[in-house]
Amino acid sequence: MKVKTMTEPAIQTENLVKSYGSVEVIRNLSLDVPRAQFSAIVGKSGSGKSTLLGLISGLETPDAGRVLLNGTDIFALDDKGMAETRRRQIGIVFQSFNLVPALSALENVLLPVVFDDRLSKAEYEVRAHDLLSRVGMEARASHRPGALSGGEQQRVAIARALINQPAILLADEPTGNLDETTAAGVFDLLTGLTRDIGTTLLMVTHDMDIAAKADRVFEMKNGKVEQ
Ligand SMILES: Nc1ncnc2c1ncn2[C@@H]1O[C@H](COP(=O)(O)OP(=O)(O)OP(=O)(O)O)[C@@H](O)[C@H]1O
Ligand SMILES: [Mg+2]
Repeated sequence: MKVKTMTEPAIQTENLVKSYGSVEVIRNLSLDVPRAQFSAIVGKSGSGKSTLLGLISGLETPDAGRVLLNGTDIFALDDKGMAETRRRQIGIVFQSFNLVPALSALENVLLPVVFDDRLSKAEYEVRAHDLLSRVGMEARASHRPGALSGGEQQRVAIARALINQPAILLADEPTGNLDETTAAGVFDLLTGLTRDIGTTLLMVTHDMDIAAKADRVFEMKNGKVEQ
């Protein structure tokens, strides 16, 4: 059996390839993301950053190559194993938020734990309210996404990604729609998780000031990364 060590990367990609039609977006990309650190991905629009996060989270399937999360080859898992890994180990903040329109902010935050019995429903609700407070959205808990601004939806999406206290948090420009003060608060919340509970944070950003604060910066170029 494989022994997991603290020094094993939280995320590894090995020779990943992904094309859309004739466009090769990810070209033989191998990457080690260190555990319990804040890593940033930068790169031009269209360079494949969101595609890479989609592959790492198992939402997109590679044409070739492997993704290992905490040493587990996620594409070797069956559907159930994949769904469970995604639900329990990974939190994702999508670039386009992906909130469910028919659900309130609170219900959206609780969505990842609907089938989870590690805590009671009441305990998850306490946690969800706490997260909504921390992103400044508690007063809007009962609002549906359609009644929220882009930045407000983004903050609800961040709370949703954290409800599971995931070991790995993937965030696609999580502060892209926020004013400076709110962005700073969200940034402190996310990086605080790395510092306080050892979350592995992988964040796509166009903001060089944010990237400068990362423990490691990966640049996407021509379907590959440079460190
Ligand atoms: N589902 C898809 N079908 C076809 N092409 C796609 C699809 N998803 C992404 N692409 C293409 O793949 C390339 C990389 O897209 P991706 O969204 O990963 O870029 P990005 O680096 O996240 O850009 P941005 O900074 O603008 O968010 C783009 O040229 C895009 O048009
Ligand atoms: Mg993108």
